[in-house]
Amino acid sequence: MKVMILGIDGYLGWALALRLAADGHEVSGIDNLYTRKAVEEVGSTTALPISSPEERITAAKEVMGVDIRFYEGDITKYAFLQKTIRKENPEAIVHFAEQRSAPYSMIDVKHANYTLTNNLSGTVNLIYAVRKVDPRIHIVKMGTMGEFGTPKFDIPEAAFIDVSINGKEDRITVPKWGGSWYHWSKVHDTNNLLFANRLWGLTMTDIMQGPVYGSRIPEIKDPRLFTRLDFDEVWGTVLNRYCVEAVLGMPLTQYGQGGQTRAFLSLEDSVHSLSLLIDNPPEHGNYRVANQFTELYSVRQLAEMTKEIAKQLGINVQIKEFENPRVELEKHYYNPEIKVLPALGLTAPRRNIRDELKVMIRDVMENKERLEPYRGVIAPKTKWR
Ligand SMILES: NC(=O)c1ccc[n+]([C@@H]2O[C@H](COP(=O)([O-])OP(=O)(O)OC[C@H]3O[C@@H](n4cnc5c(N)ncnc54)[C@H](O)[C@@H]3O)[C@@H](O)[C@H]2O)c1
Repeated sequence: MKVMILGIDGYLGWALALRLAADGHEVSGIDNLYTRKAVEEVGSTTALPISSPEERITAAKEVMGVDIRFYEGDITKYAFLQKTIRKENPEAIVHFAEQRSAPYSMIDVKHANYTLTNNLSGTVNLIYAVRKVDPRIHIVKMGTMGEFGTPKFDIPEAAFIDVSINGKEDRITVPKWGGSWYHWSKVHDTNNLLFANRLWGLTMTDIMQGPVYGSRIPEIKDPRLFTRLDFDEVWGTVLNRYCVEAVLGMPLTQYGQGGQTRAFLSLEDSVHSLSLLIDNPPEHGNYRVANQFTELYSVRQLAEMTKEIAKQLGINVQIKEFENPRVELEKHYYNPEIKVLPALGLTAPRRNIRDELKVMIRDVMENKERLEPYRGVIAPKTKWR
């Protein structure tokens, strides 16, 4: 199948490109390299060094014998996006190309506006470009489990629910409650996708994914093929951040009491799930929601697991409670539904989290010296209020 990845230079984008190419798909992608620059903007770097897009593509050819086509450009530029989609003529387009850090979106008004403008206009451009070039293209849009917030009800894997309000029945969109401007940008994207589906019958999968951890998939057989791994307080997702803290001998930064429970998955499970959703599109003209995760953990459980695995590798680390910079419940109900991916074959995690922690900590250990100067970017500084 011909698949285009928007955001191909990112953590998930590059890993998915390798997986799809290895599986025999014809892969192309667009990226404006914004994440590389924005991570530098907060004084940080990727924990594992990454090659330039050109070097990556050369390495993929040499190591795996695959051709991946890369276009540098900004998907908020409509003419560029439409022209590139027309040229590539893909059957599916995976959309990752958004500002993806909650703390970054909370820095100040400039960063909030950048997040909302970049994310919403990229998605609307994609909708219009697909409608214009070929409305049969399957849009695979990456949202987040964070769109749902932490409600007291079981989180449905659906776009709509039936409700009774003051005795009158109707069908409404599933209630959402984002925890940052970033999360709200994803909620607004979902509404825009639903509206476009209703108007023009575009075919879509809107993925609600939990935080991803891990540094490897089997295709990463050469250091030139590494995908980025962020760890600072702005860009690092929790388990990736804990691993770098452990290697640097810093306390693990648990926010508040650490009871915040989220739905996690490994990088391998993320790219595998995406492959399943691409290979098995919804019926033409349908909008499908897919919750994407394999396990639920609290951030305290993750800290305890990191401590245990680090100890097995000869590193003693402490867990430290930091004042929570975010506005979020530290103790709450959490029960998300998941049935689309299990029906396609994802019935259990393909990777054991403790094994992945070992792999990740070892990968980061190789870079310990390089990461020493970045100790100052890890403790939480970006506050919600
Ligand atoms: N990593 C996670 O744990 C996680 C969890 C849930 C959802 N997501 C979502 O998955 C997607 C990918 O996440 P990631 O971790 O790979 O993030 P990432 O920042 O590493 O990748 C996103 C890529 O998109 C590019 N990009 C951003 N705006 C662009 C634009 N206007 N034009 C062209 N390229 C643009 C960036 O340069 C970057 O390379 C994001 O939409 C993110 O919100 C990620």
